[in-house]
Amino acid sequence: MSNIKNYPIAPKFTQQANISELQYHQMYTHSIIEPDNFWGQQANQLISWFKPWEKVSTGDFTHMDTTWFINGKLNVCYNCIDRHLPTRANHVALLWEGNEPQQSLQLTYAELFEKICRFSNVLKKQGVQKGDRVAIYLPMIPEAVVAMLACARIGAVHSVIFGGFSSDAIKNRLLDADCKIVITASDCYRGNKIIPLKHNIDTALLECPDVKSVIVVKHTENVIEWNDHRDYWYHEEINSVSVDCPCEEMDAQDPLFILYTSGSTGKPKGILHVTGGYLTYVATTFKYIFDYHDNDIFWCTADVGWITGHSYVVYGPLCNGATSLLFEGIPNYPNPSRYWEIVDKYKVTIIYTSPTAIRALRHEGDHWVTDTNRKSLRLLGSVGEPINPDVWEWYYTVIGHEHCPIVDTWWQTETGGIMISPFPGAAILKPGAASWPFFGIKPAIIDDHGNKLPADQKGKLVITQPWPGMAKTIYNNPDRFFNAYFKDYPGYYLTGDDARCDADGYYWILGRNDDVLKVSGHRISTAEVENAILADLSVSEAAVVPIQHEIKGEAIYAFVTLKMGIKPNESLKKEIIQKVRENIGAIAAPDHIQWADALPKTRSGKIMRRLLRKIADNDLTDLGDTTTLTDPSVIDRLIRGRQM
Ligand code: WTA
Repeated sequence: MSNIKNYPIAPKFTQQANISELQYHQMYTHSIIEPDNFWGQQANQLISWFKPWEKVSTGDFTHMDTTWFINGKLNVCYNCIDRHLPTRANHVALLWEGNEPQQSLQLTYAELFEKICRFSNVLKKQGVQKGDRVAIYLPMIPEAVVAMLACARIGAVHSVIFGGFSSDAIKNRLLDADCKIVITASDCYRGNKIIPLKHNIDTALLECPDVKSVIVVKHTENVIEWNDHRDYWYHEEINSVSVDCPCEEMDAQDPLFILYTSGSTGKPKGILHVTGGYLTYVATTFKYIFDYHDNDIFWCTADVGWITGHSYVVYGPLCNGATSLLFEGIPNYPNPSRYWEIVDKYKVTIIYTSPTAIRALRHEGDHWVTDTNRKSLRLLGSVGEPINPDVWEWYYTVIGHEHCPIVDTWWQTETGGIMISPFPGAAILKPGAASWPFFGIKPAIIDDHGNKLPADQKGKLVITQPWPGMAKTIYNNPDRFFNAYFKDYPGYYLTGDDARCDADGYYWILGRNDDVLKVSGHRISTAEVENAILADLSVSEAAVVPIQHEIKGEAIYAFVTLKMGIKPNESLKKEIIQKVRENIGAIAAPDHIQWADALPKTRSGKIMRRLLRKIADNDLTDLGDTTTLTDPSVIDRLIRGRQM
């Protein structure tokens, strides 16, 4: 690591930044020593409460009963919209850029308010009540934000499903959360590709009899199938209701949303976030990490189907009264200048994107960037996977003209908001380091026995004290919540990532230590993909491992054993990949399938994935102890198969 250059704080930025290095250290110490006092202050400054809390926090990780802002009453939509109206009704809340460069729209806080109130009434008209779950399967269009905030307004719990998920994946999520209503769009284009959203919902609903209504945004002119008993046009419904809809008074502990994410088993977990703690945490992290100033134009490129979209397209920015840009398209359509053209078009000041997007755009060549201006940018962000130092340098130099700090933010669906990140204007930047813990976050690095490790040693990253943004539970499955995060190392929240902390107190994230993959920043479990492959009737066994990929970070490599008598062939590979697309979605499709006559198993029947990872990566230097394998000759055959 010693050959990586560090970057001082840009002089221009030191003058602007909300937080200096000294302030960071003072506030951090305060937040750790007196968390209740610290979070009470933040929650008072950044959030409007209908009724103040009686106590800031109670509970601990050991009993899994942490609770924030006890008996406090508030409404998330009120905080994101209504309370801004007296001062910023005409301030732009949302900027929207469609898939095509000529498609754009802006909505002020007042305009967004009206749309949300109307849609809240549409939901009520459909019988949605406080606590009911509402599924949202929409592209990146303003209606997605309207639908989320309308749920928050009336106290319904949204479950946003990423538009790239297949009918099967949708069905599983609808059933698990017991949704009665779905909000979707006719279809949408991503680049040149059409995504048949409504059709995917129709297919999913064949097995979800409890879904009684589907509200459809007409997004293209294409004709779609229609069910008169169940389907309603969004544009017709919003015109059939009043614009008045009061906010529901919610308890700080009331659920705000469920968001499904992958764990180490095949079944996605419904991570549940609650009203008070989540909102306080995303509002605070947004303000400080992105060094938010009043006239910033903030662009988070994540889809609202992921946690990054929830926290930093919608709730964090709008709670701070910011202007948030929503982009429906993809980075390289119609050409690889698209991101930077959007930056110039809307004078974006802060961009928050993924290493995968940066790598892909860097790959296309600098001229796509240098033809644009980008002078409006003052801060760059990265999220979702480790950013390689050379990619960091390109982002810093070519995109940011060497004057924009980069915030490499580490966090998770479960954490609600950013946990570790440089503080722009306060931290010297080390390319590749997620850097400093946010206020109230006390990480540690531990070994397999739970002992804390000293500086520079690699180990498991844990968080040692509660913070307001942490998930409340896994919907319908508190035991799984406990087992996944709190059971193995009592008193800690186990992140599933490996990391090290250097002598300067900078955290370096080294990747997952469980069976979770990060493919193009998308979180996918090996077991989910294996189950999908096993759904093919020709397959007897499958094992999936990550393989390094220049653009995607990680790609999926599958070892597949076929049933007796079935001969491997290319069309079978295609069929298996198709199965994964049908079961999960294109994001989980394996890049490589290697036929294996057997998989390396220990005498207790466990597949030795460590070996498979090495074989897939073609790294045969040290295969480690293989004496516990039932049949060690499998390895040679797999290595030969890899080379073919
Ligand atoms: C990974 C995304 C390195 C990590 C917000 C984590 C990162 C998982 C970073 C959570 C980063 C996220 N550097 N790795 N800056 N940010 N990760 O739930 O492995 O989709 O555990 O949340 O992404 O993924 P999730």
